[in-house]
Amino acid sequence: MRILVVGGGGREHALVWKLAQSPRVKEIYCAPGNAGIAGSAKCVSLDANDIQGLKAFALEQHIDLTVVGPEEPLTLGIVDEFEAVGLRVFGPGREAARMEGSKVFAKKIMQQAGVPTAAYREFTDHEEARAYVTRLNGPVVIKADGLAAGKGVFPCRTTDQALEALQRIMVEREFAEAGDNVVVEDFLVGEEASFICLTDGETVVPLPSSQDHKPIFDNDEGPNTGGMGAYSPAPVVTPELHSLVMKKVMQPVVDALRENGIRFKGILYAGLMISDGVPNILEFNVRMGDPETQPILFRLKSDLVELMEAVIDERLHEVTIDLDPQPTICVVMAAGGYPGSYKKGLPIAGLDKAAALTDTMVFHAGTRQE
Ligand code: AMP
Ligand code: GLY
Repeated sequence: MRILVVGGGGREHALVWKLAQSPRVKEIYCAPGNAGIAGSAKCVSLDANDIQGLKAFALEQHIDLTVVGPEEPLTLGIVDEFEAVGLRVFGPGREAARMEGSKVFAKKIMQQAGVPTAAYREFTDHEEARAYVTRLNGPVVIKADGLAAGKGVFPCRTTDQALEALQRIMVEREFAEAGDNVVVEDFLVGEEASFICLTDGETVVPLPSSQDHKPIFDNDEGPNTGGMGAYSPAPVVTPELHSLVMKKVMQPVVDALRENGIRFKGILYAGLMISDGVPNILEFNVRMGDPETQPILFRLKSDLVELMEAVIDERLHEVTIDLDPQPTICVVMAAGGYPGSYKKGLPIAGLDKAAALTDTMVFHAGTRQE
């Protein structure tokens, strides 16, 4: 098989690494990839959002399976575009991807499916939103409806913070039309975990639980990052909680989408907030997490190509997942200063030594060979 992976971060490096282990895979391309990915795939200089370019490439190169890493091409409809010309592609279509692309849409589906989530109100009018948060006079979370590269969520402890968030989203329009609608929801407390599943729109098969770690410093201190690491499993996801989430969240959401005429095929990822063993859903994503993918795929013994094909062909009920019980951990090494401004182009040394370790793998993000 000839495979194309779309994206170029640590998640995509892990996907390429895992897909390359399948005996069915002959050649892997990655667009745009990175210096680490170039070790096991041919990097193609196409942007992950260049859907027409990617489609032309996949047709030309007779790609048998395209795997989409990030959310943006999914919300832009890469899957619909590929399927329309007979290309096989792993990921949800444009409508299904609204589970991540629109917080309002995700909230509505959650409500319909009876999923536990923070109480919320939706606003398009700045004055009405101001009046609401002023009346609440307590901690709230303000969210721009659309994709905002992870920056559109504002947990606000005070009304002043909430008013400022509304100002930035609705008046200064920091996220452009992604801020046309705003969700104001209750501030939840607890411990977060990532619950990531495969689904073919009917059957839901969970991947191992994981937890990512956002603040830059130890002890959850300092500003949030894209994730300083992740481990799997997440001990906070007990077997009881696991079966509760499958029964009360994942399956009902997939069923509710189907009842709305949307067959969700791909990865469905629920962000959980757990307090006293009770989960609330913070958000849905429609792709693997980064950096959760790295420790999750390290534990997956099954052939990922087989699993993805079972999703595409709507026969996920036939598969079982084989996992390594050994826990895994991913630690992110970033340039000093991150997530603020930091020096770029710094050399990385020691990769050969790391490559000699048997139970360790270095995944790259933002690297380049020089
Ligand atoms: P989201 O993109 O909706 O997951 O939000 C990003 C992050 O904001 C989450 O991982 C949480 O840390 C935080 N967050 C989102 N919603 C809430 C909420 N209702 N209460 C507390 N924190 C939240
Ligand atoms: N690690 C969080 C995410 O991928 O959304």
